[in-house]
Amino acid sequence: MLNEKIIQTQSLTELQELYTSVFGKNGTMTARLKQMKELDNDARAELNRENTELRELFKNRQAELETAALNAALAGEKLDVSLNAEPENRGTIHPLTKSAQEVIDIFESMGYTFMTGPEIEDDWHNFTALNTPSYHPARDMQDTFFLPNGNVMRTQTSAVQIRAMETHGVPIKMFTVGQCYRKELDATHSAMFGQIEGLHIDTVEKGINLSDLLATMRTFATRFFEQDNIELRIRPSYFPFTEPSIEVDMRFGDKWMELLCGGMVHPTVLKNCNIDPNKYQGFAFGFGWARLAMVKYGLNDIRAFTDSDVRWLKSTGF
Ligand code: DAH
Repeated sequence: MLNEKIIQTQSLTELQELYTSVFGKNGTMTARLKQMKELDNDARAELNRENTELRELFKNRQAELETAALNAALAGEKLDVSLNAEPENRGTIHPLTKSAQEVIDIFESMGYTFMTGPEIEDDWHNFTALNTPSYHPARDMQDTFFLPNGNVMRTQTSAVQIRAMETHGVPIKMFTVGQCYRKELDATHSAMFGQIEGLHIDTVEKGINLSDLLATMRTFATRFFEQDNIELRIRPSYFPFTEPSIEVDMRFGDKWMELLCGGMVHPTVLKNCNIDPNKYQGFAFGFGWARLAMVKYGLNDIRAFTDSDVRWLKSTGF
């Protein structure tokens, strides 16, 4: 009997073949349905019933066979969770990435806008506009990588200050985090190193001054190092682009650690960006990015940051 044949099919292909032999172009049922007109009412009703029943049977058997096929496939793919697997060697968030994110969060919450600039810089943005023309002795403070076309690998993120003032004018309150390059390499210097740089300029009526810089640094350090009673001290310093220039140290136990450099932006720098120093004034500051991370997380070799040694990375505990 056809009904039984359908139920006994063992595969979807077999079922499909049977279906074609019944309902296909030359199928047995197709032929009978073509003759329908010649039947009396009862026979017609009987044929209709049979037709519906057969289609139903095919459909059900198809569903059964599909489920069976799926189950078989799943059984074949079963994972043996008791097998010993190779441990997965996952990386972790790099301490520089983590500290940069923390720095960005803090400065953004203080109203500073994050901006960036290119790592290959021209002489103007990296030196000349920063009051360091080619004859200036302060150029020797930084061992520069020069490119054949006269551009440089930027030696300082201070270049981004110039780009920010040229593009956005003043008042401005911006900061950046980025890589810089110098020909230096020992346990405390690497040829590529990160800096964090900030700039806040407003009208002389607002009168932004050095104590604003210190207050900003106090707020930053309190939040970054998660310490309430931080102690800062300032030392006079020299940078061509700030006057006066200072270095700020922070106390850790009985040691003072250099935290950042900064000062009031030099009038010549403002003039170089078409800003009138009689109308605008403000401060700038720069941090060593790795130094911040080293101090906060107790790391001691700056070169490890760029060695890509996953064991070291794991030992940092991130
Ligand atoms: N650009 C300086 C350096 O690389 C750091 C610096 C000093 C940045 C004073 C500043 C600043 O913005 O005001 O040594």
